[in-house]
Amino acid sequence: MATPHINAKDGAFAETILMPGDPLRAQLIAETFLEGAEQVTNVRNIFGYTGSYKGKRLSVMAHGMGIPSASIYTTELVKDYGVKNIIRIGSCGAVTPDIKLRELFVAMGASTDSKVNRMRFHDHDYAAIADYTLLRTVVDTAAEQGKKITVGNVFSADLFYGVQPNMLEVLARMQVNVIEMELAGIYSVAAQYGARAVGILTVSDIIPTGEATSAEERQTSFRDMMEVALDAAVK
Ligand code: HPA
Repeated sequence: MATPHINAKDGAFAETILMPGDPLRAQLIAETFLEGAEQVTNVRNIFGYTGSYKGKRLSVMAHGMGIPSASIYTTELVKDYGVKNIIRIGSCGAVTPDIKLRELFVAMGASTDSKVNRMRFHDHDYAAIADYTLLRTVVDTAAEQGKKITVGNVFSADLFYGVQPNMLEVLARMQVNVIEMELAGIYSVAAQYGARAVGILTVSDIIPTGEATSAEERQTSFRDMMEVALDAAVK
């Protein structure tokens, strides 16, 4: 049955789904990497597709930007469409000097300034974490492909503009390596509804210095991330 934000038929999604933020990126992934991909939902132009990769059924759908948007789509996918494994593929800004432009990062945990997990958790501090099996599969896959990947803590920020400079110091001191905007929501949705989730990120900018990847570099690091995500998804 369709949900308020997804108009796919029952059974239209595979058990495993790759989720970028951007709907056009979902379309590009479906067209470039999946065999026999069919578009299964298009509400609000948040496109979703199901096809196969290396003989295994696989879906891809955008989750939009920010915790509220990502929480809506992941909740409906898990609760109403039976999705079991969510792999977010996105970008992040680095805040600690050990993390460099274009590198791959996998989020073991997600800290946040959002209140969503306090709302879920009787105002206590929920530790939003990746599913260990998925995390390990991602790390093993990157190693098999000879790619460097850093495992660490992300900050899922509600503000893209206006993160306070002293917050960057706090993040670095607490060894929170990168900022993105969704995983603290996605990890807790997965926990709440009984699915597994992991987030793989490419470093698109270094926040303290303002350094950013060129369009060409973004393409290369995107391809590196996709090779890891696709192989991990079908293991
Ligand atoms: N902030 C939040 N999300 C991001 C950033 C950032 O600086 N860069 C890439 N995703």
